[in-house]
Amino acid sequence: MLEKKIFIKTFGCQMNEYDSNRIYDSVSKLGYIKTTNQSEADCYILNTCHIRDKAKDKVYHEIGRIKKLYRNKQKPVMVVAGCVAQAENEEMLKREPYIDIILGPQSYHKVNNLLKKHTLNLKQEETEFDTISKFGYFDDVKNKDNKISAFLTIQEGCDKFCHFCVVPYTRGPEYSRPFNKVINEAEQLIENGAREITLLGQNVNAYSYKENSKEYRLSHLINHLEKYSELKRIRYTTSHPRDMTEDLIQCYSLSSKLMPFVHLPIQSGSNKILELMNRKHTVEDYLKIYEQLKEINNEIEFSSDFIIGYPGETQKDFEDTHNLLKKIKFINSFSFIFSPRPGTKASKLEMIDRNIAKERLKLVQEKLFNNQIEKNKSMENSTIEVLVENKLDKQNKFFGRNKYISPVIFEGSDCHIGKIARVKIISSNQNTLFGSLNKKKRAA
Ligand code: SAM
Ligand code: SF4
Ligand code: F3S
Repeated sequence: MLEKKIFIKTFGCQMNEYDSNRIYDSVSKLGYIKTTNQSEADCYILNTCHIRDKAKDKVYHEIGRIKKLYRNKQKPVMVVAGCVAQAENEEMLKREPYIDIILGPQSYHKVNNLLKKHTLNLKQEETEFDTISKFGYFDDVKNKDNKISAFLTIQEGCDKFCHFCVVPYTRGPEYSRPFNKVINEAEQLIENGAREITLLGQNVNAYSYKENSKEYRLSHLINHLEKYSELKRIRYTTSHPRDMTEDLIQCYSLSSKLMPFVHLPIQSGSNKILELMNRKHTVEDYLKIYEQLKEINNEIEFSSDFIIGYPGETQKDFEDTHNLLKKIKFINSFSFIFSPRPGTKASKLEMIDRNIAKERLKLVQEKLFNNQIEKNKSMENSTIEVLVENKLDKQNKFFGRNKYISPVIFEGSDCHIGKIARVKIISSNQNTLFGSLNKKKRAA
């Protein structure tokens, strides 16, 4: 088989990262090998994200850059995949002749056929919602990802239709993969060396697979994965407050591998705004989940996503959000100014003043960043558990993450990648903890 090189540039969420890895797995059957040099590819895939501002423009900008890279070379087969491809479909082929293939997220099972059929004068587009066929195809393609911390998509799509969000339009309706297929793939990842698995879905805690009158939920997957001795840590993202069911909450007392870190987006601290957003939960619902989890384990920390400057957000609504940050000390959170997305209900609403939104975002981020700094500072001089992911290039230092997913860089000479190391934290900044291997009790 003739060897060809493929490069994928990935934008957006962890699900896109997982998808890019699965595309690599699929095209390897055609003789494509992954390259990390973006100027030597026979096939170049942009795996795109449509969630906020100027997503489309960014893609055309990227293509302009790629054109320059290949100015004096054979042009690569240019594929635009991901959520922008789904939203814009054949429009992109019309506007930019450099693109050869448009591939929506639910059509990745067709990638090999599209590449086989490719000729310079054939433009192809696949943006059908065909999730069952996609996962059916990939169930038979071995997952070759060999990272210590691996992603595993268990659920895709969304039926919630928050008024600001494009995901229901780009990823289609909610679909949960069969329980045994998820477990098979988890076993492959563990065999490849994964010691941490993050279960993924746009609404991962809405996972529900029914077979022989039994319903399998996210809690069943977590309890099952708990049994694999090589697997040290389990995480999941992104979850929705509405689907934070009792069985999942109880996992935090039953599972020793589920990390005490819950990424649970609230978006706003104002019930009025949550209703305008069609979020289907209130601030009180959220606080109840927070209190229940804190009661189970006081060490559990929360992170969240916030949308600031949503249409209709008054100073009082904003203060409600700001006050919530005093009640819950969120760490590792994301906050953005509302960005009107084409086709969504909120895009038709009147925007609030951009300068006011910017000012509010600044105040929210100051509070979130301070929380983060404080949390990291509180770990200084203590010894914490770190899952070691890799050694830093040409240094006697290692990279790993603590249980709250914060990056940890530490010195150590006799350290084992894939093991839990006990690291004494010496200093920290907003994003990273720094330390050295605690020599008395080394890697477990
Ligand atoms: N399913 C998750 C949930 O229900 O919270 C969120 C998934 S979405 C891919 C990730 C985050 O992007 C959202 O939580 C939201 O904060 C942000 N987001 C989505 N649409 C946005 C918009 N139009 N403007 C600004 N931020 C947006
Ligand atoms: Fe988007 Fe999440 Fe709302 Fe679904 S639940 S529409 S993915 S923000
Ligand atoms: Fe972006 Fe699509 Fe993920 S819009 S955030 S890549 S689901």
